Amino acid sequence: MQAITQTPLDIAQIRADFPVLNQLVNGRPLVYFDNAATTQKPRAVLDALTRYYEHDNANIHRGIHALAERATASFEATRRAVQSFLNAREAEEIIFTYGTTDGINLVAKTYGRTYLGVGDEVIISTLEHHSNIVPWQMLCEERGCVLKVIPIDDNGDLLLDEYEKLLTERTKLVSVVHVSNALGTINPVKTIIDKAHAVGAVVLIDGAQATSHIDIDVQALDCDFYVFSAHKLFGPTGMGVLYGKRALLEAMPPFRGGGEMIKEVTFEKTTYNDIPYKFEAGTPNIADVIAVKSALDYVDSLGKENIAAYEHELLAYATEALQGIDGLRIVGNAKEKISVISFVLDGIHHEDTGVILDQQGIAVRTGHHCTQPLMRRLGIAGTTRASFSVYNTTDEIDRLVKGLERVKTMMA
Ligand code: ALA
Repeated sequence: MQAITQTPLDIAQIRADFPVLNQLVNGRPLVYFDNAATTQKPRAVLDALTRYYEHDNANIHRGIHALAERATASFEATRRAVQSFLNAREAEEIIFTYGTTDGINLVAKTYGRTYLGVGDEVIISTLEHHSNIVPWQMLCEERGCVLKVIPIDDNGDLLLDEYEKLLTERTKLVSVVHVSNALGTINPVKTIIDKAHAVGAVVLIDGAQATSHIDIDVQALDCDFYVFSAHKLFGPTGMGVLYGKRALLEAMPPFRGGGEMIKEVTFEKTTYNDIPYKFEAGTPNIADVIAVKSALDYVDSLGKENIAAYEHELLAYATEALQGIDGLRIVGNAKEKISVISFVLDGIHHEDTGVILDQQGIAVRTGHHCTQPLMRRLGIAGTTRASFSVYNTTDEIDRLVKGLERVKTMMA
């Protein structure tokens, strides 16, 4: 197959920016195709973590000494960088969380508990990760609400006509994934948001898989909430973002109680801080938040459009290559996809596939991908998933193809 020649990116240089890629696994150069689970971290992010602990380590928003001021300034610089990354109107609309799951739970437990009651309806989709199902189920159980699910077709595209039928005047909240982690489907979230707004519902978009592949503009989307995790965007684990429109965040009660989120505490009554601090109780994940700015700067230095275009070429190359393997079926052929390919091999369990690929130094994810209802809808127990990032190459895809041929030979 023809190798990719279009990209202006220097892929060899990019690979050199990620120290973890330079290793042998089971005696073979590592091929890391598990980027939908977590991306690797560039040197700039690792350096930011070390720099913080070596020079600036202090608690933020509390001290008046030099280290505390430096740490606070860097922490707040990330907030402004995320504001710009998402094109949010104001930095105060950026809440730091521990990840996508934490952000969704925050909204369910604050907005949901306050504004949803018996008979109100929440709409999600068949493509959701468990983290965008379970918090809403818990809310519906607690508040007596009804959970409705947008169906998909066999390619993994949402059925928008069916979505329209689900919308009623009782729909109070729509929460859908921007990009499916299991199939790679890019959902038409702008249409979903506009239709929800037409019946007066608020919309949360789960951007966990989207932010490293798609340019996000929360003002253009007009979503009410947008959540993502830094670790899928070249940043550290344990750090995420909840974007919310100011008016909604101000009207919501706090999530966790503790230091920082208060204005005044007496034993009789506590008054709460302004946003974003109202939602950031306790000492946050300071070093990781600070390092996220380096991750965003790194993405900017490559150019979001360049990343998306290169990954698209990897996806096209891999799709064609995998389709050529006898007995392999790609699961998820949506009209718009990011660089994720899920597949099944005739008569071979995905765990065996994953183990034999690992023996050849190739890292993929296998199983239900935290989307059990989706797997059930597709009539399968799970898939093998290869997910590509900007540091991957067509040579590595060729190794995957050879690796799968070996899987077939060994399991024959
Ligand atoms: N949600 C992550 C994945 O898709 C962990 O692998």
